[in-house]
Amino acid sequence: MAREIRGFRIFDGMLGATAQRDMVADVRRVVRAAPLFAPVTARGQAMSVRMTSAGARGWVTDRRGYRYQAMHPGGMPWPPIPDSILAVWNAVVPQARSPDTCLINWYAPAARMGLHQDRDEADLTQPVVSISLGDDALFRIGNTERGGRTESLWLRSGDVLVMGGAARLTYHGVDRIAPGTSTLLDAPGRINLTLRVAG
Ligand code: SIN
Ligand code: MN
Repeated sequence: MAREIRGFRIFDGMLGATAQRDMVADVRRVVRAAPLFAPVTARGQAMSVRMTSAGARGWVTDRRGYRYQAMHPGGMPWPPIPDSILAVWNAVVPQARSPDTCLINWYAPAARMGLHQDRDEADLTQPVVSISLGDDALFRIGNTERGGRTESLWLRSGDVLVMGGAARLTYHGVDRIAPGTSTLLDAPGRINLTLRVAG
């Protein structure tokens, strides 16, 4: 059963320990083929997360701005989205189109993600599904327009979050992670997987 906060559905502990370990092994295979890179915003600001993608397209940002593109910045294609990750999408949003991109964000202990909307996708009627692995993250949920009161919750390893419907354009971000709260990964840090229909 999911709980709901401001239209975001949260499936606490949806993935058990074995499923999480298998998924991390799949993520490592993707990262070996399409290495994590350090994104920079259009204004030249370094983001604190490291990222890569799987799927037909991947989200990138550099001095030319935000976009989805068919190739990794290193020139290689993005690897396919692992079945273990697709299975989560099919379980929580079975009515949606298939995702064509899975963003992989790596949070080192000091990394964070400012409040933002996910709005670079062509069809905003399709949901976004986000999977947390590794250390806990303090996740902040705002409103569909910038500003106003916000609400925070801790996302833990194995939690799955769905942003869809009226909440598809709700602002969200990660204030901080809590290093050492999970033993899933070899080192302190957090992986977030974000599945989307981009094209
Ligand atoms: C994101 O919104 O891009 C990432 C969210 C998260 O790390 O939980
Ligand atoms: Mn987002």
